Amino acid sequence: MENKDIACLVTGCAGFIGSHLAQALLSRGCAVLGVDSLVTGHRANMAAFADHPGFTFWERDVRTPDLVRDALTALPGLRGVFHLAAVVSVPYSIDHPQLTMAVNLDATLALHAQARQSGLPAFVFAGSAAEYGDAATIPVAEAAAGPGTVQQSPYGRAKYLASAAIEASGYGASLRCFNVYGPRQDASSPYSGVISRFMEAGFARRPLTVFGDGGQTRDFVAVDDVVTGYLLAAGLTGPLGRPLAGVYNLGTGRATSILELIQALGELAGEELAVTFQPPRPGDIRHSVADCAKLAAAGFRPGLTLQEGLARLAAWWRAGQAG
Ligand code: UD1
Repeated sequence: MENKDIACLVTGCAGFIGSHLAQALLSRGCAVLGVDSLVTGHRANMAAFADHPGFTFWERDVRTPDLVRDALTALPGLRGVFHLAAVVSVPYSIDHPQLTMAVNLDATLALHAQARQSGLPAFVFAGSAAEYGDAATIPVAEAAAGPGTVQQSPYGRAKYLASAAIEASGYGASLRCFNVYGPRQDASSPYSGVISRFMEAGFARRPLTVFGDGGQTRDFVAVDDVVTGYLLAAGLTGPLGRPLAGVYNLGTGRATSILELIQALGELAGEELAVTFQPPRPGDIRHSVADCAKLAAAGFRPGLTLQEGLARLAAWWRAGQAG
């Protein structure tokens, strides 16, 4: 009950990361107003906390005018906004650039302005590693994304422009998450995260598909650690005890190749997993790893190793993906 008497707005509360964040806030004693359009979010993601007495759900689009002001009327104890609602699919954003800009950029700027004008102490936005485009530097630091950076999709472009505006305003933080994995992540699309795809294939006893030679690396961060980063950025945990301002990478700083990932999954399963190789995905980045020094200086430490995070995810799959 570390954060009793505090209320927070979580947009995208029926999504993968938003649902874990809402659940963590409730377990800390916060009241949570969750907003989700349910276009890509799922009610099932909220099953573990939908009946919590501190939770209120509004099925709304984040483009609804005056959303933060309405939230403040409903919950006068509102102290912070966690804004995670977005057009989340990169390929969808390429086919729908205007909608992506309206939701991921314009609505973000509107919520940010309302939160600021309302005097809310904390505003935390879900930025993305996609803001860096095909960044040449490894590990990639926050300053690597600038006005001249070419993002590979409207998704990445909108996230970059929103993060840059938040940073320039001096109010609010944007967390650029790297490859997040964990329970409730969608495994059904070809563009789903590689870890959920491998879990699904492994539990269905199908071979894991590797695009390319498997030597490409990613910075895999467990959703539990991402939630910790969000709480820290809002000033709800951590040594600083105040909300952060600016742009921060949120990863582990560790690079794992796809072949190393398969090895870790095989150790967890206690058997060697069958693998098939396919040509590399067009546009695939070879290496991506976060320079996490900035968030580390604010007190962030990832708490889970990849093995621990994978074990938690496997337990969720084994339990029938419940909760
Ligand atoms: C991630 C984001 C994406 C963002 C991009 C750039 C996720 C799910 N996606 O893509 O939104 O635009 O970063 O920052 O976090 N792979 C396989 N087999 C599979 C699936 C994937 O070998 O079945 C490979 C991919 O080719 C890739 C790596 O695994 O090399 C990671 O893929 P994925 O999890 O889709 O994430 P990113 O490509 O890093």
